[in-house]
Formats: sequence, C-alpha cells, structure tokens
Amino acid sequence: MLLLPGRRPKLIYLISCLACLVFLFRLFIAKDRGPTTPPPRILLVSAFYRSPNAKHSDYAYSRWIERYLGQITTDIYFFTSPELEDFILEKRPSSFPFYLNTTFATPFSIPPLHGLEAVYSKQQHDLDPYKEKHSPDVYAVWNGKPYFVTQAIQNLERQGKVYDYVFWNDAGSFRDDHWYTEWPDPRRVEQVWADVAKLQGRSRSTNIGSDLVFFPLTGIPSAGHQKWKEDDGPISDAFSQGSFFGGTPSAMQWFSKTFYAYHDHYLSKSLFVGIDQNVFNTLFLLFPDKFIAMDYSDVPLMDIDLYGACCWRWWYYHFWFGDEEGGEKVREMWRDKLKDVREGKGNLKSEQAKLKVWEDTRWSFLWKEDLVPSRERSAPVRLMTTLLKKQFGRTWTPPKRHVHVDL
Ligand SMILES: *[C@@H]1O[C@H](CO)[C@@H](O)[C@H](O)[C@H]1NC(C)=O
Repeated sequence: MLLLPGRRPKLIYLISCLACLVFLFRLFIAKDRGPTTPPPRILLVSAFYRSPNAKHSDYAYSRWIERYLGQITTDIYFFTSPELEDFILEKRPSSFPFYLNTTFATPFSIPPLHGLEAVYSKQQHDLDPYKEKHSPDVYAVWNGKPYFVTQAIQNLERQGKVYDYVFWNDAGSFRDDHWYTEWPDPRRVEQVWADVAKLQGRSRSTNIGSDLVFFPLTGIPSAGHQKWKEDDGPISDAFSQGSFFGGTPSAMQWFSKTFYAYHDHYLSKSLFVGIDQNVFNTLFLLFPDKFIAMDYSDVPLMDIDLYGACCWRWWYYHFWFGDEEGGEKVREMWRDKLKDVREGKGNLKSEQAKLKVWEDTRWSFLWKEDLVPSRERSAPVRLMTTLLKKQFGRTWTPPKRHVHVDL
C-alpha cells in the first residue's frame, strides 16, 4: 500500500511520455506521407492559326507543337482553324486529354476582334514600330489569348469539367528537347500560390485572396514609367511575357474582361494595341494588386549567363513550373552540355567564352561541381506591387483608372 502513492506519479509520467511519443510518431508519419489533399486540377489553353506572314517556318511550328502536344499529358484545350484539324490531332497521343475546337476559321472570327481586320491592317499596322516583322493576323492571334482562355473554361464547365488553375500556353513554346510530362507540375503550382498567400500575409497592400493572375516577366519597365498614366497607352518596354499566364478560372474571367476593355479603349484612341504584351504591361501598372510574377532578374546570374543567351531566358518558366524529375533531366542535359563545352566539343565557341568568364570569376570555384541551376536556387514568386515599388519608389501608387470594366 505504501508503494502506491510513490508509483502513481511514475505511472502518470510513463503514460504521458508514451502519449507524447505516439503524438510525435503520428506527426512524423503525417509529414512523411506528404500532402493529403488531391493535387489541383490544371488546364492548359493554346491556339494555332497559320499566318502567311508567320515568323517561323511550318516545319519549325510542326516540331514545336509536337514537343508540346506529344509530351505534355496535362489537359489541353486547343483552338485552330478547320483545315488544321488533322495536322493538330495527329500530334496528340489519343490517351492524353485533349479538346480541339475549330469553330473559328481565323482569329478575326472571335467576338472581341470581329470586324477589326481593316483597322488592324491599316491604322494599327502603320503604328507598329516593328511592322516589317509583324502582320495584322499575328496581332489578332496574340489579342485572342484572353478570350480563348475564358471560352475553354466555359465550354468545359458546360461538360461538367472544372479546373482549379487555367493557363494560357503558346503552342510553339516547347522549342527544345524536354522531359516534362505533367506540366505545369500541380504541386508546384499549389506551392507558388501558397507562397503568395504568405507574401500577402506580410503585405497589407494586397488583400484579394487567390484571384491573382500569374505572368513570367522578362524585365521591369524603366524608371521613366513612374509617371505613366492610363491614357498614355500601351507600354512597349520589355516587361510581360505573353507566352504563358494564368490563374484560377475567376481570375482569368476578370483578366479577359479587363484586357478587352483596355484594348477597345486604346483602339478607340488610335493607340497601338497590336502587341498583347504592351497592353498586359499597362494592366500591371493599373491593377498591380491583381498580378503575381516570376521576375527573370531574380534568377542567379550564373544560371543565365551560361545558358540564357537565347532560349532559356524566355522559357525559364518551363523549368520554374516543372516537376523535380523533369527538372533533374534538364539539369543532366545542361551538365552534358557543360562537359562538351569544357572538352571543346562541337561548335560551342560562344559557350566556351561564357564558361571562361565564369571560371575566371572570383567565386566560380565554389560552383565548379554544380554550375547548373536548381529550382531551389531559382527566382521566388513576387507580388507585382512589390516589384513596381522597388522600381518606382515606395511612395508609388497605381495611376487613376477611368475605363469602365463590365465585370
Ligand atoms: C468552340 O468554342 C466556341 C466558343 O467558345 C463555342 O461556342 C463552341 O460551342 C465550341 N465548340 C465545341 C465543339 O465545344
């Protein structure tokens, strides 16, 4: 009897210890199992219309589209003209989800651009500083993107198919060999939007939940645009990339309505709207709270210098949104290329020169073994407001808006 009072505390101690261990064990197991929610459902939207003034050859487009439709297993909604139906269909393996829409014979047949052929061909083309390179039908394909995205969402909703994130992706964007299959990686997309939520928690200026539109950026407009006003019109600085953008279905509805409101407004003022990116740029300044971005200038310099000369810069978002496995394959490819460069194989003069610059730099010895980029080292997701304030000053506020957007 005398032993009991002494034992009880020990027993309690033992039991709580056990409970503690079970708790820790469960915590550990739960962590190990990874996310328990299903991955977000993702839709890609693209279009291809043949232009007599296309920038690239038919053969090039054919190869690029093959690398996209033939390899990416993600659900894709695709607009093209009726005569290209077979050409497109043969590039898509029948086991990959695919929705082909041939309702529009040309991009001028879509409602927002109906009847604009004449004004695009004369007035708009004359306003284009790069008019030798561009043609009115190319403006129409570019300016059709936001409409195509919302139509894909609506048409699939009618069939009972609902997505968490919808992205526009240029049909010709996969120009080089790659190993991505499920792209963008749903878990990576989830992580990017989760990172944004954390950033929003810290910044009081943004408070609009998840209805944000993502864009990869190729630069930030020059400081001279600090005083840009709505009626100054489209901004032609290297800023937005038009080849890829997206967000939740409701974010994309907002984006499309806002894009065409400004497109029509600037067109009515005889300003140049032929290049979609220039109009996107104005939306970034007018509605910075609505946009998030991957800013290419965040990517470590050494990642860029060696491989960024042409393609990687523009297509870096492939890697950024890719899964670990595909990214590892890309890194392998880069490593092989690096080896070739070191061994002086092939016609790699310019790469050799770049490698020499790297190896001559003070810190390069640290990176010798692993000169190739990893996603962990790549750019973080950014709030557009943060990027613009960094460039224009902390007191910068978005210009006043007068254009009515019928939401
Ligand atoms: C193709 O898209 C148009 C515009 O959204 C739509 O009206 C039409 O029903 C679609 N066609 C099919 C077969 O889904």
